[in-house]
Amino acid sequence: MKFFVDTAETDQIAELNDLGMVDGVTTNPSLILKSGRDILEVTKEIAEMVEGPVSAEVVALKADEMIAEGRKLAKIADNIAVKVPLTWDGLKACKVLSGEGNMVNVTLCFSANQALLAAKAGATFISPFIGRLDDINLDGMDLIADIRTIYDNYGFDTQILAASIRSVNHAYQAAMIGADVMTAPPAVIKKMAEHPLTDAGLETFMADWAKTGQQIL
Ligand code: G3P
Repeated sequence: MKFFVDTAETDQIAELNDLGMVDGVTTNPSLILKSGRDILEVTKEIAEMVEGPVSAEVVALKADEMIAEGRKLAKIADNIAVKVPLTWDGLKACKVLSGEGNMVNVTLCFSANQALLAAKAGATFISPFIGRLDDINLDGMDLIADIRTIYDNYGFDTQILAASIRSVNHAYQAAMIGADVMTAPPAVIKKMAEHPLTDAGLETFMADWAKTGQQIL
């Protein structure tokens, strides 16, 4: 499973990147707002930091304008994935931008049928939003499983990018189902290292080690 980091905070990306945990980065208008940075500037900086795809989202609503914005974003670096919303206009933009050789991430996906359309339109990535479905008492993980089945049924090579991951359990379940990629906030990725038995075991080892009176260094 590839790990994308869902943030535009460059210091947090750098920390995980140094550990080899970053296969790509996703941003969106809300994350750009949170960063307080200029979209073109911060996207360029991120694209230079990481080797994998860096998603940068268009903000126009009409296909022609999305395409123009997408072309401008794609020029920032070779590893930009243009992010378009899953609307009819977004699908048109996806078709044109992917046809021009750009990676396209179709975002705000909430149904298997939407994911099917995105694959037909040539999306590189489809981003189903797990947490936001959970927020309205639906099971976001069912959507990941449905898309996996449909894409496998027909051999679509669009990658399932599990998004709106809010917990370590989301990460685990998405991996079990076989999402190709997950994008998660840095805090969720770091939390995946935690286990109470690890902490308890370490505490015992440290206590016993102290009793030996030995030192390694
Ligand atoms: O990748 C999409 C993500 O940024 C949305 O997450 O937590 O705002 O639903 P969330």
